[in-house]
Formats: sequence, C-alpha cells, structure tokens
Amino acid sequence: MNIILLGPPGAGKGTQATRLVQSRGMVQLSTGDMLRAAVAAGSPVGLQAKAVMDAGELVSDAIVSGIIGERLDQLSGGQGAIFDGYPRTQAQAEALDRLLEARGRRLDHVIELTVDENALVARIVGRFTCAVCGEGYHDSFKRPKVDNTCDVCGSHEFKRRPDDNEETVRTRMAEYRAKTAPILPYYEQRKLVSRVDGMADIDDVGAAIDAVLNG
Ligand code: AP5
Repeated sequence: MNIILLGPPGAGKGTQATRLVQSRGMVQLSTGDMLRAAVAAGSPVGLQAKAVMDAGELVSDAIVSGIIGERLDQLSGGQGAIFDGYPRTQAQAEALDRLLEARGRRLDHVIELTVDENALVARIVGRFTCAVCGEGYHDSFKRPKVDNTCDVCGSHEFKRRPDDNEETVRTRMAEYRAKTAPILPYYEQRKLVSRVDGMADIDDVGAAIDAVLNG
C-alpha cells in the first residue's frame, strides 16, 4: 500500500506516519527529514536547501522528487510507502505518479488531516525531539513520562527545529495554502482522498486513519 499524508505544518503527518511504521511495517518517506539530514551532512543538496527551509519556503521540485526516487529504489517490492510532506506542488504530484508507475507501484490513499490553523502554531512551537533516537514530543500534548528523559532510549538530550518559530510557521502555512492545498482536486477526481479530523487526540486520529486503510 502506498499512501500520502497531506496537511499543513503541524497537522500531525510525522506523528501519524511514525505510528503506521510501528503498526504496519510501512516505510516513512519524509522529504523534510531527508532534507534536514542533507543539511546536517553538509551535502550539496543540504547546502542548497538550508536557507530555503530556514525561511519556510519550498525547496525545488527537482531536488525533492530526485531524493524521493532514490529512496523508492531502496524499498523492497512488498514494503508500503507513506509519503509525508511530499508531494507539495502540482509538479511534485505529477512526478510522484511517474516515479510510482516506473516502479510498478500505485497510490492507494491520500489522507488529508484537517486542522484549525490557529492551533498549529502552538503545536509547532511546542514541539521537540530526542536528539539521539528522534522520538517526537510536545511541551503540552506529549511530554516524556519522566521529565527530561526520552521514553524510548533514555537520552537526556533534546532538540528543536530552527524553522519551528512563529514567523517561519506563518510562511510555511502560506506556502501550504498557495501551493499544496490546490493539488487536492488532482487526487479527488481519482477518488483517492479521505479526510480525517487532525484536531482529535493523537490516538483517535490514528484510529480514523486505520479505518480508512482497512476500509
Ligand atoms: P517538513 O519537515 O515536511 O515540515 P511540515 O510540513 O511543515 O510539517 P511538520 O513536520 O512541521 O508537521 P507535521 O504535520 O509532521 O506535524 P507533527 O506530527 O510533527 O518540511 C520542512 C521544510 O522542508 C519545508 O518548510 C520546506 O522548506 C522543506 N520541504 C520538505 N518537503 C518538501 C517538499 N516536498 N517540497 C519542497 N520543500 C520541502 O506534529 C506537530 C506537533 O504536534 C508535535 O509536537 C506532535 O506531538 C503534536 N501533535 C501531533 N498530532 C497531534 C494531535 N492530534 N493533538 C495534539 N498534538 C498533536
């Protein structure tokens, strides 16, 4: 099964993708994570992407579709893919169709997480991750069980993303409205889109996504 999780910054795409990886053994393909890894490694792609990401704007279609193609080639035929943060433009949506077709895959579902944008700023500025294993947390909604200790690996080191500040989040939301939301009709006409209430509790959002995938 190959699915897209679509929604504005902070909608919960990464949170739900992680759950699907754990529950279904699917593979999360997050262009945001891939680009952050490229920035951290100082690779040519990372050097190009850094300033664009820090400003909350979109990296070029050619770069992101290129890295998605490379990652798809690393999957075995039986592994399902969760596209998290990709595609984000009409050109990327069309590129994804070509990438999947060339590999004998097809898209099964596009799940849109519908959210109240006003709540998203609070979600994003409160977000942090374990610096060692990457487990995600939130100051209010998902604190570690023991203060300052990662539930998963026990590390005491956490980090926050440089683009998780209010000003950049507003730009990221504007980019979503202008360039990403308009690709929904492309999938609606193929009857691939399901909407899930992304404002519900994390577990309830997960259950609603399971219902779509099991349906
Ligand atoms: P990317 O990393 O994709 O960021 P994003 O789309 O802005 O999405 P986020 O990761 O911020 O949010 P999310 O929906 O995953 O939310 P999360 O689950 O963490 O992209 C970053 C940048 O890279 C872009 O701005 C762009 O520059 C570049 N880029 C990436 N892909 C690109 C592409 N395809 N083309 C061009 N450029 C690209 O949840 C947020 C917080 O809320 C967490 O703390 C979580 O615990 C909490 N939370 C989640 N769900 C709930 C809930 N139901 N209730 C309460 N809290 C919740």
